[in-house]
Amino acid sequence: APGPDAGPVGETVVAELRRATAAHGGTLTVVDAAGPRLDDATVRAHDLVLVVAPRAGGPGQRRYPDAHPTAYLVAAATAGRYDGETGGQFAPDMVRRVRVGGTTVVAAGGAVGLLYGLHGVVRLGERAFQADDGDHLERPLTPVRMLDHWDNIDVHPVMGQVERGYAGGSIFYADGRVRDDLSRVADYARLLGSIGVNAVAINNVNVHATEARLLTDGLADVARVADVFRPHGVRTYLSVSFGSPMRLGGLATNDPLDPDVQAWWAATADRVWATIPDFGGFVVKADSEGQPGPFAYGRDHADGANLLARAVAPHGGTVFWRAFVYNHEQDWRDRRTDRARAAYDHFAPLDGRFDDNVVLQVKYGPLDFQVREAVSPVIAAMPRTRVAVELQVTQEYTGHQKHVCYLGPLWSDVLGFPLAEDATRTVADIASGLPGPRTPEGAQLRAGGITAVSNVGDDEFWTGHPLAQANLYAYGRLAWDPSADPVALLDEWLDLTFPGADPRVRETLHAFMDDSWLTYEKYTAPLGVCFMVDPLRGHYGPNVDGYEYSKWGTYHFADRDGIGVDRTVATGTGFTGQYPAPWDAVYEDLATCPDELLLFFHHVPYQHVLKSGTTVIQHIYDTRADAVDVVESWVPRWEALRGLVDDRLHARVAERLAEQVRSATEWRDQVRTYFFRKSGVPDASGRPIY
Ligand code: GCU
Repeated sequence: APGPDAGPVGETVVAELRRATAAHGGTLTVVDAAGPRLDDATVRAHDLVLVVAPRAGGPGQRRYPDAHPTAYLVAAATAGRYDGETGGQFAPDMVRRVRVGGTTVVAAGGAVGLLYGLHGVVRLGERAFQADDGDHLERPLTPVRMLDHWDNIDVHPVMGQVERGYAGGSIFYADGRVRDDLSRVADYARLLGSIGVNAVAINNVNVHATEARLLTDGLADVARVADVFRPHGVRTYLSVSFGSPMRLGGLATNDPLDPDVQAWWAATADRVWATIPDFGGFVVKADSEGQPGPFAYGRDHADGANLLARAVAPHGGTVFWRAFVYNHEQDWRDRRTDRARAAYDHFAPLDGRFDDNVVLQVKYGPLDFQVREAVSPVIAAMPRTRVAVELQVTQEYTGHQKHVCYLGPLWSDVLGFPLAEDATRTVADIASGLPGPRTPEGAQLRAGGITAVSNVGDDEFWTGHPLAQANLYAYGRLAWDPSADPVALLDEWLDLTFPGADPRVRETLHAFMDDSWLTYEKYTAPLGVCFMVDPLRGHYGPNVDGYEYSKWGTYHFADRDGIGVDRTVATGTGFTGQYPAPWDAVYEDLATCPDELLLFFHHVPYQHVLKSGTTVIQHIYDTRADAVDVVESWVPRWEALRGLVDDRLHARVAERLAEQVRSATEWRDQVRTYFFRKSGVPDASGRPIY
C-alpha cells in the first residue's frame, strides 16, 4: 500500500495493479503501510503484494530493516512464498528484479523506480515469472529523458497546430486554450511513464504571442497539465521566449544585464514554482530563426542563459538552452560561410561560463535533423558545460509519418558514436555526464540529458502512420539505455502492440522496418549531402535544388563535374577542424572519410570511386532504383496481412504505403534524372531516366 512518502507515482503503481488484476484476474489486497504487520499467511493468500514506502513499524519493516528505509517492493507470488532480501541503497529510479523462491520481486529506490519496474514486468510478460529469469539491476544512464512538443495553441494556416507535426492537432490545446478534457494527455503520460520518459516541454520552441502567455496568465492551465503528467513521473517544462520581459512584462528591454529584466524573470519564476512546485524549467530557442535573443543587446549566449538560470535556480529549475544558432539570412553566393560551423563557433568559446543549471541542448547533427549527418562536434567541444543531445522523433526530414522510417538505428548510431577522448567516449556518455579521462580538473560535470521532438498528435493512431509509434517507443527505451539494440526494441514494441499476433505480422514488420531508415536514405539525398527536400511542402518530397539558391545555408553544389560540400581545413570551410581526434583527420582525408558522409565533407567528381567500389554517380543511380524496388515489395506483403491485424490499422498503413511508393518513385526519378542531366554520365544499369 502506498505510504505517506509514495506520492502520486505510488498511487499510479497501485492503480496499475488494480487495473491489471481487474482485467486478468488474481487478487490484490491493499494493506495500509502504517497499519499492522503483514504476516506470512496473509501474504501467501494473495497473488500479489505491493508495499510502497514502508516506514518504521510498517509491513516492510521486518524484511527491509532500518538500514534500507527507502526499499520498495512489488511481490507477485502466484503460488509461492513471499520471501527475499532485496534491500540496498538504491537511487529512486534504480530497479532490481529478482526471483526469490517462487516469487518475482521488483524492488526500487523510489516510487518512480517501482513504476519503471512494474512496466518492465509488463514488457516481459511471462518471462518475468520464469524460474531462470535471474537477477537484474537497471537504472537509466541519463537522468533527464525528455520530449519537446512543438505544439501551438493557435492553428497556423500553413504549419497547422503542431509545427512539423504529422499526426493531427495538439493533444494539449484546442479552441484557443488548454483543453478541458485532458484524458488524452493522461493516456500519453501513462505511455511516457511506461518507457521511462520523465520530462516534457509542452509548447513550441518558436514561441508565438498566444503561447508566450502560458508563462504568466496561462499558469493555472499549465498546472492542470502538470497534474496529469506527475503521477507517471513526468515533469512539465515550458518553452519560453527570451523576449518575454518586453512582450509580457511591458519592459523597455530584454537585456540580460539589466536589473529590471533580471527582477522580472526572478518574479516570474517565483510565480511559476508557487503554482507548480515540481515544475522542471524552461526550454529556450534564442537568436535562432528569428526568435529574440541576447545578441540584440551585444550580449552572448552565456549571459542570456544565465539570466534565466539564476531566476530558476532557487527553485531547483533547469534551463535547456538550444545551440541551434546560425545565420538564416545567408547569401548563397557567399561560399565561405558554412552553417555546419555555426553552433561550434558561437558556443565552444563559452565553455565554462554557463551556470550549473544550464543545459546546452545540441541537435545531433550540425545542420538540422537530416537523414544522414555527421555527429555535431559541439557535443564534444564543451567539457565544462552540461550537454543534452536533441533527436527528432517527428519525421520532418524522414517522410512526414507517411513513409515507414524506423529511426531506432539512426539514434543508436548517434548515441553510441565514440566522439571524444580518442574515440572512447560516446555521445551518450557525454550527455550522461560520465567523466572522461580528460575531464578538466575540478569540473563538476553533471548530466545534460537526452531530448527529442515528439511525434504525437490527436490522430486516432497517435502518430499518423501507425508504425511511427515504434519511433516514440524506441526513443524512450534508447534514452533509458542507449546501448540497447534497436532491432530488439522493435521486438518489444511488436509484442506490446500486436500481442498474440500471427507470426507473419512480426516477420513482415521486421522486413519493412529494420532497415527502413537506410532504405529511406537510399531513395533521398545521397551520401550525406543533405536536404534536396521541397521547401514549399514543409520538407516533404524531392526538390533537388529546392534549397540551392536560398538563404538557409544548405547547399549541395552539384555542377556538371561533381557534387558535395568541401568542409575540409585544407581547401574548404574548415569545419572538419572542429572535431576532436581522430575524427578531424578521418573526415579531412578523402581516403578515410566514410562513404555515407562523403558528400557532407567533400566535393568530389561524379566518377570518384567509393570504398564500396562503385562510382558516386553509379551509386546515386543504383541505390535510388533499388530502394524503390524494396518499398514496392512491401505492398503485397502488407496486403497479405489483411485480417491478421485490426482492420482500421490495416487500412491506414495500406494508404500510407501507397503514398510512400508514389513519393519514393518521385524521388528516384527526379534524383536520377537530375544527375544524368547535370553529368551526362549514363546509368550503366540501363534503367529508365527521363
Ligand atoms: C527546423 C524546423 C523548424 C524548427 C527548427 C528548430 O529548422 O524546420 O520548424 O523550428 O528546426 O529546431 O528550432
